[in-house]
Amino acid sequence: MLSKIIFLLSFCIFYLHCVSGAADKVLCYYASWGANRPGDGQFTAEDINANLCTHVNYAFLGLNDDGSLKILDNATDIENGGLEKVAALKQINPNLKALFSLGGYAAGTQLFTAVSSDATKRATMAQSAIEFCQTYNFDGLDVDWEYPLEGDRQNYITMLSDIKQAFEPHGYILTVAVAAIPTDAAYDVPAMSNVLDVINVMTYDFHGSWAGVTAQNSPLYASPLDGEWQKDNLNCNSSITHWILSGAAPEKLAIGVAFYGHAYTLADASNHDLGAPSNGPAPAGEFTQNMGTLGYNELCEFHKDGTIVWDDAQKVPYMYDDTLWVGFDNPDSVALKAQYAKDNNLAGVMIWSIETDDLHALCGTKYALLQAVNDNMK
Ligand SMILES: *[C@@H]1O[C@H](CO)[C@@H](O)[C@H](O)[C@H]1NC(C)=O
Ligand SMILES: *[C@@H]1O[C@H](CO)[C@@H](O)[C@H](O)[C@H]1NC(C)=O
Repeated sequence: MLSKIIFLLSFCIFYLHCVSGAADKVLCYYASWGANRPGDGQFTAEDINANLCTHVNYAFLGLNDDGSLKILDNATDIENGGLEKVAALKQINPNLKALFSLGGYAAGTQLFTAVSSDATKRATMAQSAIEFCQTYNFDGLDVDWEYPLEGDRQNYITMLSDIKQAFEPHGYILTVAVAAIPTDAAYDVPAMSNVLDVINVMTYDFHGSWAGVTAQNSPLYASPLDGEWQKDNLNCNSSITHWILSGAAPEKLAIGVAFYGHAYTLADASNHDLGAPSNGPAPAGEFTQNMGTLGYNELCEFHKDGTIVWDDAQKVPYMYDDTLWVGFDNPDSVALKAQYAKDNNLAGVMIWSIETDDLHALCGTKYALLQAVNDNMK
């Protein structure tokens, strides 16, 4: 026993990431509206596997004009018990943390700009977040402001600092979701790295049907087809590298993993390579109802006959099925992203979003993507 402890200690001294416990976080965004999807697309808060996440980020809450937090969908979040069911997951996994995710792309920037620039509203926001945590038995807040611009730079970090300070006596967690390219938004990266518990980097949506030719949603590395700027900006590795070079501590960064793909309509079904001409976004999927993207579960349920090609340069697959083309992630590619988090001593992996995983094992394994992330974290 003692020799085993001594062995482990010496191992940890040689491998410092063992001591710092880096790359051990699996931050799971849960899109609460998944509870209202039809058929096999339905994924309620009770369907979350509490042992495959370290954090559940409940998306989304909104802001009131005075800075207080706002429930956006009373039926889903309160009446049907969405928030309560997420908190109840902590009975299954006592180490699990539940966070409110505030904002999101659709929420826009106006309220964030107004609240962050006003000291009274910032204080109200922090106090309201504490009260929400107490009321719903949550453990913190994830600020998903997409995106602070140049004029917000100081107010953004002041807002985060004020919240963190108010959270301190309660031990609540503060995280953010950020753009893949740090220079695109007004981030004081070193200050953010000091204040925040985790910075969730949205390393996806690098390419989509807007480009006119097929390309990957979330490539780990560059493609030989990329130009110089693309090589250095439009993949997970370049993004994480830039965040570190901008002053983020690696152990504060979570690499974003997408449980959906960007879906295109091919101009010609027989030309289905990377860079093939596309007529635009593929039609919306039955579950996610969004033109140009498909959940992993939709690929499993409706496109089993599609041909899957492994893109070895970018370490992600793509699939084609007649005129449908999708650049997506599968268990192999998410495993490599988890491995990347470990190799680079990151905080871990962030997922947008767990309710489009293969809940019904239609591709073979229940929670196939989240399971693959976990298998490569431990
Ligand atoms: C939300 O639902 C609860 C439970 O039905 C109800 O008590 C509350 O008044 C509702 N709040 C709003 C803002 O509709
Ligand atoms: C990772 O990204 C950085 C920054 O773009 C680049 O210098 C480096 O070569 C990349 N690593 C790999 C293995 O592609």
